[in-house]
Amino acid sequence: MEETLTIIKPDAVRAGNAGRIIAHLEDAGFVIQAIRRIRLSRAQAEAFYAVHRERPFFEDLVAFMTSGPAVAIALARENAVAHLRDTMGATDSAQAAPGTIRNLYGTNIQNNAIHGSDSPDNARVERAFFFAGCDLVG
Ligand code: CMP
Repeated sequence: MEETLTIIKPDAVRAGNAGRIIAHLEDAGFVIQAIRRIRLSRAQAEAFYAVHRERPFFEDLVAFMTSGPAVAIALARENAVAHLRDTMGATDSAQAAPGTIRNLYGTNIQNNAIHGSDSPDNARVERAFFFAGCDLVG
């Protein structure tokens, strides 16, 4: 099974949708290997999204991701990276296909309810960010 990483973002946690999103992921065939409620510090958010550091939305993204608790989840499934991205829908919630998590629970291109790793290599890096040293049950 392939592995990936998701974060239920502060907008979705604040709205009380974390449980519904977790159920959606399980219904989509993902195994929850490890799960943590987190509150990102500014330094953690900057490090996690370092690849976007030069983008005009970086400051707003860091402010958003540190605005409240989030939920990080290590996931496994066949073809997990691509399947999670299909299950989430397009980055901009306003453009996300009906029935996808971002369509159901997000608002716009920033407040889009959920993050998912965009490649198996990034999945390894992002999983280590939150779950290094944890026993992961497949
Ligand atoms: P995510 O998939 O977590 O990866 C980077 C995040 O930056 C993205 O979801 C959005 O929350 C945010 N983002 C991406 N593009 C934009 C944009 N054009 N304007 C504002 N925020 C963006």
